Amino acid sequence: MVRWLALWIAVLPLNAQTTASNYVGSTVCKTCHPDVWQNFFKNPHYKSAASGNELPERTGCEGCHGPGGKHVEARGGKSTIRAFSVMAPRQVLDTCLTCHAKDFSKANIRRSEHTLADVVCSNCHSIHKSPVTKFLLARYQSELCYQCHAPVRAQFSMPFKHRVNDGLMQCTDCHNPHGSLAPTWNAGLRPPMVSQALGNEEACLNCHRDKRGPFVFEHVSVRVEGCERCHSPHGSMNAKLLRRPAVFTLCLECHNGAGTFGRENTGEILPLATHNLLDPRFRQCTTCHVRIHGSNSDVTFLR
Ligand code: HEC
Ligand code: HEC
Ligand code: HEC
Ligand code: HEC
Ligand code: HEC
Ligand code: HEC
Ligand code: HEC
Ligand code: HEC
Ligand code: HEC
Ligand code: HEC
Repeated sequence: MVRWLALWIAVLPLNAQTTASNYVGSTVCKTCHPDVWQNFFKNPHYKSAASGNELPERTGCEGCHGPGGKHVEARGGKSTIRAFSVMAPRQVLDTCLTCHAKDFSKANIRRSEHTLADVVCSNCHSIHKSPVTKFLLARYQSELCYQCHAPVRAQFSMPFKHRVNDGLMQCTDCHNPHGSLAPTWNAGLRPPMVSQALGNEEACLNCHRDKRGPFVFEHVSVRVEGCERCHSPHGSMNAKLLRRPAVFTLCLECHNGAGTFGRENTGEILPLATHNLLDPRFRQCTTCHVRIHGSNSDVTFLR
């Protein structure tokens, strides 16, 4: 705030009366901006305007647009008030964060891929003309995201998919568009703004609770690398959203004895010699290894 006022005073030295208390209150705006004013009572920001004895810079129109004294005196103008239409993305961000920096969901917003790409609050939220009842979104959520992420639309149109396009789920069931915190899986490699379930687990576990464990016998890859190692989270040509068309090709990517992983340092365990991969029966690994996400009774996940 102080920075803004300093700028104000520097830019407009002509009017010596410009002071910190140049707030005029929201009702004054009504005369010239009846369209904006008319809808404002429905806005969650109206609450801050309605609750009487707060600081002026925290209330109503001026909470976002800054003190309106000069603007009213000049009978309008974009240079006399904080006009979002001429503001740089980072200035928009800073303005909104004067109040919203406390929100837990925005704890990492300054480092989010969106902020780094200059996609800020007003790209996704419309304060005065939102067609959506919740969260003042600029469009319905999936359309909002698809307008910039077209390839993702194609992924959710694949034969096997999470039903986002049917409105059964939303992008924000798995993503936090405001930026996510460091994950506890996949060696802490930052996944693309994937949000977290309670206890910093993968968002998937909010719904697929039976996969949460802990299991007596964990399948290491599920716990360490995470669900995306084997599943395409958006959509896939393969049943069960698998990354590979045949289950055994997925398993053999790891269970091939290569490298220095595993208990014996000899690479991840090979299937037993009895596994005859020429026999189609053996290629469908999960017909026998049914508890592939972890088991409480069998180290080889057979039950
Ligand atoms: C929560 C912050 C916020 C509050 C509170 C707010 N505005 Fe805005 N206003 C914006 C943003 C952001 C824009 C840019 C357009 C957009 O994203 O909707 C804007 C745009 C405008 C415009 C430009 C025309 C338009 O419709 O886009 C006018 C005029 C305006 N606001 C007046 C007001 C008045 C009058 C009030 C109080 C009744 C008010 N604003 C309260 C954030 C706010
Ligand atoms: C005497 C009439 C008048 C009053 C009172 C008035 N405005 Fe304005 N305002 C205007 C005019 C005219 C414009 C258009 C300026 C332009 O487009 O160049 C404007 C533009 C704006 C803009 C810039 C919109 C944009 O394009 O980004 C904002 C924000 C704004 N007004 C907010 C307010 C707020 C908040 C108040 C109350 C504190 C207020 N106005 C009171 C006449 C008024
Ligand atoms: C890339 C798009 C995007 C950007 C950028 C964005 N938001 Fe959001 N925001 C959303 C979506 C989508 C939701 C709805 C979340 C849901 O449905 O759970 C939301 C929800 C919210 C909410 C209500 C729920 C919550 O998480 O607290 C607030 C407040 C909010 N945003 C403020 C902001 C502010 C302030 C900024 C800028 C500092 C911002 N947003 C930037 C997309 C965005
Ligand atoms: C003066 C303080 C203040 C500023 C500045 C501010 N907000 Fe808010 N915002 C609030 C308050 C207070 C609420 C209501 C919170 C509640 O109901 O819990 C709110 C709620 C919201 C919500 C949630 C709406 C819902 O349906 O729950 C969104 C989205 C939001 N603000 C976006 C923004 C954006 C975008 C900006 C910047 C253009 C902004 N806010 C600037 C105080 C502010
Ligand atoms: C105004 C355009 C715009 C909108 C709207 C938008 N995004 Fe983005 N998004 C971007 C840009 C630009 C990037 C950073 C460049 C990139 O990686 O594509 C990005 C990055 C991302 C990333 C990280 C990608 C990566 O590879 O790291 C995710 C996840 C994402 N957005 C999800 C969403 C979701 C969910 C929504 C809707 C709530 C949304 N975006 C809305 C433009 C947008
Ligand atoms: C079921 C959970 C889930 C849903 C729903 C979801 N995502 Fe994702 N998304 C993910 C995960 C997990 C990743 C990380 C994939 C990886 O690391 O391979 C991801 C990655 C991304 C990326 C990074 C680029 C890419 O394709 O890998 C973008 C952009 C993205 N999602 C956008 C969206 C948008 C837009 C929506 C809504 C239309 C959405 N996501 C819905 C879980 C989801
Ligand atoms: C909001 C709840 C929700 C979240 C979060 C979620 N899912 Fe799902 N998932 C579902 C529902 C519901 C279905 C059933 C699909 C359908 O019929 O539309 C499903 C289906 C699946 C399937 C296919 C099941 C089958 O029998 O074909 C897989 C695999 C899957 N999800 C994995 C994941 C992964 C991996 C994540 C995290 C990246 C995730 N899910 C996040 C709700 C969720
Ligand atoms: C090592 C690879 C792998 C990992 C990692 C993995 N899955 Fe799976 N998952 C599979 C395979 C293979 C199937 C197909 C099982 C079948 O054919 O019956 C499957 C099936 C599913 C199904 C549908 C059938 C069922 O059991 O409900 C869901 C839902 C699912 N996985 C969710 C998840 C979630 C959530 C995670 C992360 C916690 C995860 N998966 C991690 C390999 C994996
Ligand atoms: C991302 C790599 C990866 C993938 C993909 C993977 N696994 Fe594993 N799996 C492991 C690791 C690591 C272990 C633990 C090996 C160790 O402790 O040496 C393991 C352990 C096992 C075990 C228990 C072995 C024992 O005796 O402890 C079985 C059985 C198994 N996996 C079967 C499968 C099947 C079937 C698939 C395909 C659906 C699969 N795995 C996919 C990495 C993977
Ligand atoms: C017809 C049932 C069946 C099929 C199909 C099957 N397995 Fe097995 N698998 C077993 C049995 C039985 C064991 C041995 C359990 C024991 O000895 O305790 C085993 C053991 C394993 C082990 C542990 C080896 C060790 O040294 O501990 C791995 C790894 C494994 N299987 C991977 C796979 C993979 C990968 C596939 C698919 C290519 C597959 N299995 C298909 C029944 C099957």
